[in-house]
Amino acid sequence: MHGLGTKSRGNVTLSLVLTRYYYSRRGEFMNKKWWKESVIYQIYPISFKDTTGDGKGDLRGIIEKLDYLQELGVDAIWICPIYASPDYDNGYDISDYYGIDRKYGTMEDFDELLQKAHARNIRIIMDLVLNHSSHEHEWFIESSASKDNPKRDYYIWREPKENGGYPNNWESYFSGSVWEFDERTQEYYMHLYAKEQPDLNWENPEVVRELHDMVKWWLEKGVDGFRFDAISHIVKAEGLPDADNPQNLPVVQAYHFFSNLDKVHYFLRTLNEDVLDFYDIMNVGEVSGLGPEQALDYVGEGRNELDMIFQFEHMFLDAKSGGTGKWDIKPWTLIDLKKIMSRWQTVLHKKGWNANYMSNHDQPRQVSRFGNDGDYRVRSAKMLATFLHTLQGTPYIYQGEEIGMTNVQFPSIDQYRDVETLNYYNQCIKRGMDEKEVMQRIWKKSRDNARTPMQWNFEEHAGFTDGQPWMDVNPNYPKINVEAARRDPDSIFHHYRKLIELRKKHEVIVYGDYRLLLPVHEEIYAFVRNWEDEKLLVILNFFSGAPTFEWPEDLQGMKEELLISNYEPIDGEELYSLNLRPYEARVYKLS
Ligand code: GLC
Repeated sequence: MHGLGTKSRGNVTLSLVLTRYYYSRRGEFMNKKWWKESVIYQIYPISFKDTTGDGKGDLRGIIEKLDYLQELGVDAIWICPIYASPDYDNGYDISDYYGIDRKYGTMEDFDELLQKAHARNIRIIMDLVLNHSSHEHEWFIESSASKDNPKRDYYIWREPKENGGYPNNWESYFSGSVWEFDERTQEYYMHLYAKEQPDLNWENPEVVRELHDMVKWWLEKGVDGFRFDAISHIVKAEGLPDADNPQNLPVVQAYHFFSNLDKVHYFLRTLNEDVLDFYDIMNVGEVSGLGPEQALDYVGEGRNELDMIFQFEHMFLDAKSGGTGKWDIKPWTLIDLKKIMSRWQTVLHKKGWNANYMSNHDQPRQVSRFGNDGDYRVRSAKMLATFLHTLQGTPYIYQGEEIGMTNVQFPSIDQYRDVETLNYYNQCIKRGMDEKEVMQRIWKKSRDNARTPMQWNFEEHAGFTDGQPWMDVNPNYPKINVEAARRDPDSIFHHYRKLIELRKKHEVIVYGDYRLLLPVHEEIYAFVRNWEDEKLLVILNFFSGAPTFEWPEDLQGMKEELLISNYEPIDGEELYSLNLRPYEARVYKLS
């Protein structure tokens, strides 16, 4: 399906046969792809770089920073939505799929970005929201104009229950019901996210056709792939039944009625067959609520659905339950992290492909959540980076991660911008929860932790804007910024650069299999990767203690080459009984 360029169907079949499989020396088939060998950098454009002084990042800001991205060495950038949007959810509410939002610039700016990125061998992955649109999209404006409007069925409308209540008891991702009442037509429409994000009705073939045409239009422009937002939710259970509700709450979590239903696979295959198969592109889907066995239905080689998915299992390690339960925090354990990651690594090996991430625009900063953003910020950020870049799968870097940006603790709710955070805050206060407790939860889990402006330099607002930033900059920018990181050869930034370089040099990092060592060790995460004649040993101390790593016997007596570490090696140390330092990470090549 990929690696083919824009070609006719006949050529596609021939090329598929010729290029799909690579025969390795050991007689194993390994399906090699550019997107498996790539490192992808995620840009949250509103917070990346402002060039106009309006306090919001823009496309010219991304163009300005292409040199920086090239220096880092990334192969592709995934840009969060830049289409026209009223921004109730920062662009994830699209009002025109064919237009660039004015605050980001023009279509000419986009074309220039595409051309200049390609000139640097950087591919462009678009974030596309197909589950819902903005309520300001012309389709919804028409759809809500009258019950007999030709576009009425573009969205999901239902009559109130007999008592006038919601058509069912499903809870929205952003608090409250998934239903919003429309006064004009006296019916409810469905929104799994904010009420300004009505869900599109994929059961209507006209909607599917419109979406396919639009995807094709972007591909014809030359983009290199898509991140499909919330794609596992495009199909809802037939009859939209109520979820079990033993406590008789107004709304309850009902994910199984709108996640990963069979027909999603049909729609994805159709999208590939009709459109994607004709281009050399990649696609990654945001897919929650499943384990790796089920994930193979999406990413299994030959399924022709998605190349990778962003799975969520490890994102719920510190949550008491899923969905809106994310705010109720519990401590995470390394043993659980190992269990989850190892399952994904082994189940998908040779059958599918992983997308490896620990933070993005919806999650807290990884160094604050899984590392240590105090005394060991630099060491632990490097350790986590080493982890993500040595697993099998494509590593994703979220903007600012490469300089170790941290969570933020804004004292006032007025400084927060995220619709999910604000809805949650209001709901908690209404229910009488202590404000301090609510803020503490927000400091840990708000998506705004990841959305504060990129910290470029020591100047006011971290060099992000000459104006007033749309959201306050994290006050730690005089210490944590790109200028400082580039200057310091020992910085997190240079560690990322080296990791990316290593990926280009050692195939074992990309294609090697994965074997976990010490599954029940509470502090050390260690694993071995194997590919043809190469072996990689990755040793990570996830905490600030000093555990000893006993070198496995079957790996002793080989030639060890230390490829990367976050500490200077100690002369004369006992390698086979290695005393690890806080957050130490080492990667050895064994031969
Ligand atoms: C995805 C996006 C998130 C957005 C939501 C609704 O989860 O990553 O930012 O709020 O979908 O589009």
